[in-house]
Amino acid sequence: SAAEKGGHDYFMLKEIEEQPEALANTLRGHFADGRIVLDEQRLADQDLRDVDKVFVVACGTAYHSGLVAKYAIEHWTRLPVECELASEFRYRDPVLDRDTLVVAISQSGETADTLEAVRHAREQKARVLAICNTNGAQIPRESDAVLYTHAGPEIGVAATKTFLAQIAANYLVGLALAQARGTKYPDEVAREFRELEAMPAAVQHALGTVDQVRALGRELSDSKAVLFLGRHVGFPVALEGALKLKELAYMHAEGFAAGELKHGPIALIEDQLPVVVVMPSPKGRAVLHSKLLSNISEIQARGARTIVIAEEGDDTVKPFADHLIEVPAVPTLLQPLVSSVPLQVLAAEIARSRGYDVDKPRNLAKSVTVE
Ligand code: AGP
Repeated sequence: SAAEKGGHDYFMLKEIEEQPEALANTLRGHFADGRIVLDEQRLADQDLRDVDKVFVVACGTAYHSGLVAKYAIEHWTRLPVECELASEFRYRDPVLDRDTLVVAISQSGETADTLEAVRHAREQKARVLAICNTNGAQIPRESDAVLYTHAGPEIGVAATKTFLAQIAANYLVGLALAQARGTKYPDEVAREFRELEAMPAAVQHALGTVDQVRALGRELSDSKAVLFLGRHVGFPVALEGALKLKELAYMHAEGFAAGELKHGPIALIEDQLPVVVVMPSPKGRAVLHSKLLSNISEIQARGARTIVIAEEGDDTVKPFADHLIEVPAVPTLLQPLVSSVPLQVLAAEIARSRGYDVDKPRNLAKSVTVE
């Protein structure tokens, strides 16, 4: 009923709006006495100190949260992090031993590909930490430790609030590793955690774009395809934006690393093709920002319709943006938490305008329990 959907046309919009709460609940209780604390069933500090390599394994949206995490965990810990699709991982003989930490991310905790990856990692003696939104599910049961996301039940088949919660949980793991290994001073860990704690308010602010983005979604509903471009942590955001559009609007959508444009995808640009560009902050990553600006001017010159997600007050993008969507300024590594919000809304609204069931897209199940 409409009441269950919080007065919305579809659950997904309610779940998009629940993201500040999902983030706050996921972070709650994980910082005490100046330290990051993971969950009850956890790895000992010694185990975390011994880690010399991290694998993140997951599927779909959870995989995209892992791609985001790679940037943060490598930066904070100086450990190599590989993020891999669970369905590929165990079939290619990955190099694992007891000092490898495998982070298995799954909303449902029942995804067969991810479960098999966990089993394979444990057979190779790696330590497995599950990040899961479902209490007592199979993946946490078969893992050495678990960190729960507390996003609450997610009804929409398309993952939204669990994506943001997974990013936050991954970041807690990164900070716990940095703390155990001493690659960050305790006051730096505390500062990073405070920045994370400020994110529910920033996401709330980003939700101020919903009406604007819904109107844009209605305008774009007849498009044949949409491209998404990003760099650094904006690249996985672009991949996630494209996945949402494929699964909900059944539209051809592709995410690219913007730097790859000139290596092939620019050939796809044609008149009126909508291209969504996820801009980095002009302050945080100035070099990347200027490179993306030149990418947008190139695609605009070829007739693309540019939809630019940029930091509030970034005036430099204005001449290149046919549609400008402004999100609050946050530290670079946290940008995916705000820039993903308009992309979720865009996909949902394009799907609704095309007459599709946003909460139950065709051919998809909420949890995929076959390999
Ligand atoms: C997300 O919108 C998808 N429905 C799908 O990609 C999903 O993220 C994937 O199947 C993984 O599910 P899990 O998190 O429950 O393991």
